[in-house]
Amino acid sequence: MEHLFHAGDNLEGLAQLAESGWRVDLVYVDPPFATNHEFLMDSERANTVSASGELAYADTLTGDDYLEQLRLRLEAIRSVMADDGSVYVHTDVKMEHHVRLLMDEVFGARNFRNSITRIKCNPKNFNRYSYGNIKDTVLFYSVSPNRIKWHPQEEPLTDEDAVSRYPLVDDTGRRYATTPLHAPGITRRGPTGGLWRGMPPPAGRHWRYTPDKLEELEEAGLIEWSRTGNPRKIIYADQSAGKLPQDVWMYKDPQRPSYPTQKNAAMLERIILTSSEPGDTVLDCYAGSGTTLLEAARLGRRFVGMDDAPAAWEVTERRLLDAGVEWGALGEVFKNASGREHQERVAAHSGSLSSGATGNML
Ligand SMILES: C[S@@+](CC[C@H](N)C(=O)[O-])C[C@H]1O[C@@H](n2cnc3c(N)ncnc32)[C@H](O)[C@@H]1O
Repeated sequence: MEHLFHAGDNLEGLAQLAESGWRVDLVYVDPPFATNHEFLMDSERANTVSASGELAYADTLTGDDYLEQLRLRLEAIRSVMADDGSVYVHTDVKMEHHVRLLMDEVFGARNFRNSITRIKCNPKNFNRYSYGNIKDTVLFYSVSPNRIKWHPQEEPLTDEDAVSRYPLVDDTGRRYATTPLHAPGITRRGPTGGLWRGMPPPAGRHWRYTPDKLEELEEAGLIEWSRTGNPRKIIYADQSAGKLPQDVWMYKDPQRPSYPTQKNAAMLERIILTSSEPGDTVLDCYAGSGTTLLEAARLGRRFVGMDDAPAAWEVTERRLLDAGVEWGALGEVFKNASGREHQERVAAHSGSLSSGATGNML
């Protein structure tokens, strides 16, 4: 798989990508949050905000300057995305409303899908005049309102979920819940508006299934009759595929990060599996330690990564090489080439993040 990396400003990398005609299916970006901090790291550990060590990256643009440079990059990202593409932008509680307005402007408010709350750490005991902040936000948009890749990843039920969602227990000890066999709305023509076992659906409602299917459910013992003769469908907890993910996610930051503000790889796994397909291209143009790139490669997607910080290149390169992943330098691959030729040339490249030379370390 032909992975690509641009070691430099992402505006320049995105312009090269746009020129190439390459289309990206999924974008996850975790840009600086206008914290006005310099993020440092030493060889031992990469604290989120370290008091000493070498500069990993500076997050010192604030206010209008911050928003304006981000707007340019969001526009550039939009220009390289496929029509059925999805984009996830990580931001924090101080910037989320500003960034959401930018996203509405660039991607369109009707393409807003979710503002995901991410629980990022354990509860804090800071002595401040406010509640502990343990969350940040991932804004999820699509390029088109109706065309989108969507493969939600069901989560296993916890014991607590099983008890609250399936409160009933049958004679054999199996946990279950029941749901109505009719739904709002009248079917004027068609079997779901007619009689089943001599019974019409209740006023203003229709059967959820045809009489044949209702009979099948009855024979399979999957209908429970109330004392007043109301039938309900039985759903067993042990046959549940799990629960669909909601918009509050628990993906705490790694305890021992290799890079400041490194994100949880499992969160990227969820995003990539839900919003892309094998062989698709995943872009992270604020790659940091390469979390998105590693997950994309592991899940059989092609990555395009970008970062302008040498410390990020070093960590990303180490993580990719440890995982046996090869890549090409975007500039080299796209230089003097266009259209299909890029794709062919990409296949021939692999190597260092900074130089693009095959197999070179930094
Ligand atoms: C919050 S960190 C990303 C962390 C990453 N999600 C991870 O899991 O390691 C933001 C990164 O964006 C990079 N960055 C900031 N501005 C950039 C720009 N204009 N072009 C390329 N990279 C940039 C910084 O160097 C930094 O590595």
